[in-house]
Amino acid sequence: MSAYLWVKLVHILSATVLFGTGIGTAFFMLKAYLSKNDEAMKVTTQNVVIADWVFTTPAVFIQFATGLWLMQKLNIAFDSVWFITVVSLYAFVGFCWIPVVWIQIRIKNHLAAGAHRDDYRVLMRAWIALGVPAFGSVLVLFFLMISKFGAYA
Ligand code: HEM
Repeated sequence: MSAYLWVKLVHILSATVLFGTGIGTAFFMLKAYLSKNDEAMKVTTQNVVIADWVFTTPAVFIQFATGLWLMQKLNIAFDSVWFITVVSLYAFVGFCWIPVVWIQIRIKNHLAAGAHRDDYRVLMRAWIALGVPAFGSVLVLFFLMISKFGAYA
């Protein structure tokens, strides 16, 4: 298999880790929160924080690096509508994800200090408000990857 296809394989696997881990950890964290069981939330939040360091963080860098490499091979210009949209959406997702990681660590520390649901309700609302547009943007990124809309216009 060519280097190009190996890099594309890594790019798609990284996209799978980014989207899959994001959806998975969001689901378990939301379910733990809705269960009103602080002990369940405590254990879940500890694991969500670990998952973001182990899976999401490396994938964020691998996605961008392999994406730039693939662009070069496909002669997609940096001033193309496609790249400007992709990089703007990717940055937006990043600007949503960084406060989400901070919120998850805050909630983990609150719970470790014996906090209860009402103490982090506002943080969870912010977590949800940041998560929804971020996931919507990743779906748009998948569309742009497949359609290559504006890549050669
Ligand atoms: C969350 C962000 C991203 C996701 C989910 C994602 C996902 C994908 C997927 C599924 C493909 C395969 C499309 C196909 O086979 O037609 C792809 C291809 C590609 N991606 Fe991404 N990608 C993301 C970010 C990026 C970024 C930031 C760049 C550029 C810096 C990029 C550049 C590319 C290029 C150039 C291709 C075309 C490869 C080809 O068609 O052979 N991607 N991406």
